Amino acid sequence: MFARIAGRYDLMNHLLSANLDILWRKKAAMACGPGHRALDLCIGSGDMALAWVREHQEGKVVGLDFCRELLERVNKKSGGNSRIIMVEGDALDMPFADGSFDAVMCAFGMRNLADVEKGMHEVARVMRRGGCCTILDFFRPRHWIPRAFYATYARYLIPLVGRWIAEDSNAYEYLHRSVRKFLSLEEFSNLMTKVGFEDIHHRHLTAGVATVLSGRRKL
Ligand SMILES: C[S@@+](CC[C@H](N)C(=O)[O-])C[C@H]1O[C@@H](n2cnc3c(N)ncnc32)[C@H](O)[C@@H]1O
Repeated sequence: MFARIAGRYDLMNHLLSANLDILWRKKAAMACGPGHRALDLCIGSGDMALAWVREHQEGKVVGLDFCRELLERVNKKSGGNSRIIMVEGDALDMPFADGSFDAVMCAFGMRNLADVEKGMHEVARVMRRGGCCTILDFFRPRHWIPRAFYATYARYLIPLVGRWIAEDSNAYEYLHRSVRKFLSLEEFSNLMTKVGFEDIHHRHLTAGVATVLSGRRKL
């Protein structure tokens, strides 16, 4: 699905969020502390990794994704930035040794994993103890403002725009369905605790439409 919409991926993100996605990734990059070696899990077209290198003057970020078409876009967009290294691979079986990363970030990727719990076990495995993990995503909402947003805008308008511009309404109907099936913020926080994180805290963005959730890998 992501390969199908790769060419219009950035345009659609910016258009459908009225450019708020740029601010959301900047906040997530600020929350994801500095590190010698960071991982951008499900890097997609690279906007999260680019936000991180802009925010932190030092360190390299490894971007993992299994969609080659999107990884090719990162290459073009980053202009061959040597601080961003792309790896094609599966988030559920990462090609990295235990404790490889000081920081892990994942923007709008967790919701797409076939097995979130397995993905988070992998995240905990590849992080060094004391490292910071930051997740930016649309969690299943509890509060009425984001609920109303997903029940109307995301359910009806986003697929319509997806059909007109990306010529793929299915991919954009998927957004609404995936949010409905995803974990709530509380459930995801509990999962983080279960796989070995502590000091878990969050920040709601745009009245809770998106949320940045961070935790520290237990020492
Ligand atoms: C909604 S996009 C998010 C991309 C990017 N992080 C962003 O901020 O726009 C989700 C990404 O997750 C990737 N993805 C989903 N499941 C994956 C898996 N098991 N392994 C690697 N990448 C995966 C998709 O290829 C896609 O690029």
